[in-house]
Amino acid sequence: MVSGKIRLYEGAELEGVRAAAAASAEVLARLCDAVEPGMSTLDMDHLAEAFIHDTGGKSAFLGYHGYPGQICISLNNEVVHGIGRADRIIQKGDVVSLDVGVTVGGYVGDNARTVCAGGQPEGQVAELLTVTRDALMAGIDAAREGNTINDIGGAVEDLAKKHGFGVVRDMVGHGCGKVMHEPPEVPNYRIHGHSPTLKAGMIIAIEPMINVGTWRIVFDREDGWTVRTADGSLSAHFEHQILITKNNPEILTWPKSA
Ligand code: MF3
Ligand code: CO
Repeated sequence: MVSGKIRLYEGAELEGVRAAAAASAEVLARLCDAVEPGMSTLDMDHLAEAFIHDTGGKSAFLGYHGYPGQICISLNNEVVHGIGRADRIIQKGDVVSLDVGVTVGGYVGDNARTVCAGGQPEGQVAELLTVTRDALMAGIDAAREGNTINDIGGAVEDLAKKHGFGVVRDMVGHGCGKVMHEPPEVPNYRIHGHSPTLKAGMIIAIEPMINVGTWRIVFDREDGWTVRTADGSLSAHFEHQILITKNNPEILTWPKSA
């Protein structure tokens, strides 16, 4: 799907991606703060439209292969690509995954986070959110010049498996900068065979999708977008866009206001 030459970013292009990533991080942080039981997922989409407008950018998702929303909002057993709906009301304790992509000045920022609506998560939800965020951070820590893409997926997979959780295999992270989906693909698991070596200047979005139960997913036949866990178990999704450097990886989607 996304194969080919991996872009290296520097100078004005890098600054352009930095600005887009910062905008997408700002929008995501504001949305996470705003989530409350009683809101519909369409209310969240409308809020996102206003927050994206405030950045001077545009949604990178709207119209992408015909996608109808500003952002993706996926609840509970929904993994990713949930579309805002007026009749979908967020309940206290719901697991709310928010995925935000913003295009500013011709560059794309992309990030995602999962929160618990209406208070601190408890029990298995707390474990799912912690493990998925930690798996993303472990993947980022492996994203170093000289390592391979496979080192990232391996780090994510190892942490999820230690907790008995399923790592979604049918969807992967990606290069992200001039366009939303660039090479390379960034799986959240180890692959066999060739895996690209990381170089300073690469920009990738790492985005583990982790399920309490099976890794298997199903695609909604009616809306054509919503992805759910095959067994109905809860799912979480965290995503950062990062820059590979000569030293530590740099998280481009770290919100200033957080
Ligand atoms: N953030 C998602 C990704 O990384 C994109 C959402 S798909 C869209 O692939 F169709 F909603 F744009
Ligand atoms: Co992405």
